[in-house]
Amino acid sequence: MSDGNPTDTHKATSGGNMTDANYLDDHYAAMQPEYEYMLRMVGIEQGWKVLDAGCGGGSYMQLLTELVGEAGCLVATDLAAENVERVLQRIEQAEFACEVEARTANVIELPFPDDSFDAVWCAAVTQYLSDDEVLVAFNEFKRVVRPGGIIAIKEGDFTSFHFGPFPSAVIWRSFITDMRGMTRGVLRAPEFAATFRRLGLDSVFSRTTLAERHQPLRPVERRFIREVLLFMSSHSLQLDLTDEDKDLWRALRDVDAPQHLLNNQDFFYRESHTVIVGRLPAI
Ligand SMILES: C[S@@+](CC[C@H](N)C(=O)[O-])C[C@H]1O[C@@H](n2cnc3c(N)ncnc32)[C@H](O)[C@@H]1O
Repeated sequence: MSDGNPTDTHKATSGGNMTDANYLDDHYAAMQPEYEYMLRMVGIEQGWKVLDAGCGGGSYMQLLTELVGEAGCLVATDLAAENVERVLQRIEQAEFACEVEARTANVIELPFPDDSFDAVWCAAVTQYLSDDEVLVAFNEFKRVVRPGGIIAIKEGDFTSFHFGPFPSAVIWRSFITDMRGMTRGVLRAPEFAATFRRLGLDSVFSRTTLAERHQPLRPVERRFIREVLLFMSSHSLQLDLTDEDKDLWRALRDVDAPQHLLNNQDFFYRESHTVIVGRLPAI
């Protein structure tokens, strides 16, 4: 899922996930107030060198560069070469508050020496990793951040995901049926604060933010939510669910029909995200 929304073949990048930069830009624009609130709570300081690990198309670049200011530096990395290409285009086309570099890199094998950064920001990436890979990535973040620096993870937390009017039990049956699949990655964030402490990080905190949208949806909100519903219905139709549940999911596929849920005056969409921050012990 991308900030909650799982793999979809028509959105796949070379990362193999629903991580297409246009989709990510829509998601960012649809959730911008909550997303920026979450990044601001991390504690990134002026003059810092920050790694945006799994940067996608660079949605957070603007705010990250403002937070570090002209004395700072941003390094944006992603597994998908096409997303890094988008970031490089952005660097060419826009003025950022500080120097920005971009390159491909896997979070489980970062191509940087020890103590290279003051902070790592890693948003909506751990959902694509196995439990073991998450630990490898967190240890990589510990390695590349200097003593006293910080690691900040933002991840979708689908314990509060809902849209409707649509039966919550149907959504949860889909999640539970897929618990060993991609759903695991968007239900894992509540465990990360304890993981950070086990890894020896200090000053650990975890905060969850709910983003809710109602009618009338802004065009970008509608476009983003339309993609989510399309994905969730096609994904759920592949799962071992009852015919009754599948009928409800199937009805969501016809996103442009006048009677579609998106046109219901009581339509709502709700997603939540957790930010987990920890500080490396100062030597
Ligand atoms: C949902 S997008 C989030 C992008 C961006 N951080 C944001 O929040 O808008 C997930 C990104 O993680 C990247 N990704 C997935 N697995 C990765 C890995 N092992 N190492 C680095 N990036 C990865 C994908 O290519 C994609 O760009």
